[in-house]
Amino acid sequence: MFIQFLIFSLLFTPFTIISTIAHDTDDFVRTLDRKMLGLDEKKEKFIHFRFYWHDAMSGRNPSSVEVVPPPLKNSTTRFGLVNMLDNPLTLGPQLNSKLVGQAQGFYASTSQSEFVLLMAMNLVITEGKYNGSTITILGRNPIYYEEREMPVIGGSGLFRFARGYAKLRTYWFSPSTRDAIVEYNVYVLHYY
Ligand SMILES: *[C@@H]1O[C@H](CO)[C@@H](O)[C@H](O)[C@H]1NC(C)=O
Ligand SMILES: *[C@@H]1O[C@H](CO)[C@@H](O)[C@H](O)[C@H]1NC(C)=O
Repeated sequence: MFIQFLIFSLLFTPFTIISTIAHDTDDFVRTLDRKMLGLDEKKEKFIHFRFYWHDAMSGRNPSSVEVVPPPLKNSTTRFGLVNMLDNPLTLGPQLNSKLVGQAQGFYASTSQSEFVLLMAMNLVITEGKYNGSTITILGRNPIYYEEREMPVIGGSGLFRFARGYAKLRTYWFSPSTRDAIVEYNVYVLHYY
């Protein structure tokens, strides 16, 4: 019995100590070499995408739905509204033109004096070389201005480390249904 215990102790104690030390000194953060991701050799690319964003709230298959109605019934800017969207992105302004991606996210009305949206969206590209890569946009959108700008704050896949901006112009808007088609020109710096 004692022999067995001794063998057991000899076998496992050092491992226990080592693993405890390793655990205690395990850093959860460390500095990496940029070369690991090939960031030094890769030249940062600058690209421009143009597509149309379709916010369809009406019809039998809306791609944009109100999930939180404006809580103040008399708010002229629909302050507090939240809309969730999975909007098609197409090459041309017509909904049946070539589909190149989806805009998934939400917008919320954030101003009590103007119609301004906070927009948080992932643009999921589904065509060509960037198929499966995403661009994340987070910004302020005063929708009645002729031209708006929102920051590109990052991305995934080929858009890792992406930064840039999107320029928006309303192509078409229906005040009765609130359906909208918006032209997006997105300028992105990225490495891959
Ligand atoms: C909305 O109604 C509230 C309470 O009835 C009032 O205090 C507020 O001034 C109104 N706001 C507007 C924009 O009319
Ligand atoms: C994009 O990628 C998806 C998933 O890998 C694939 O099913 C689809 O066919 C691709 N589309 C194009 C146009 O290459």
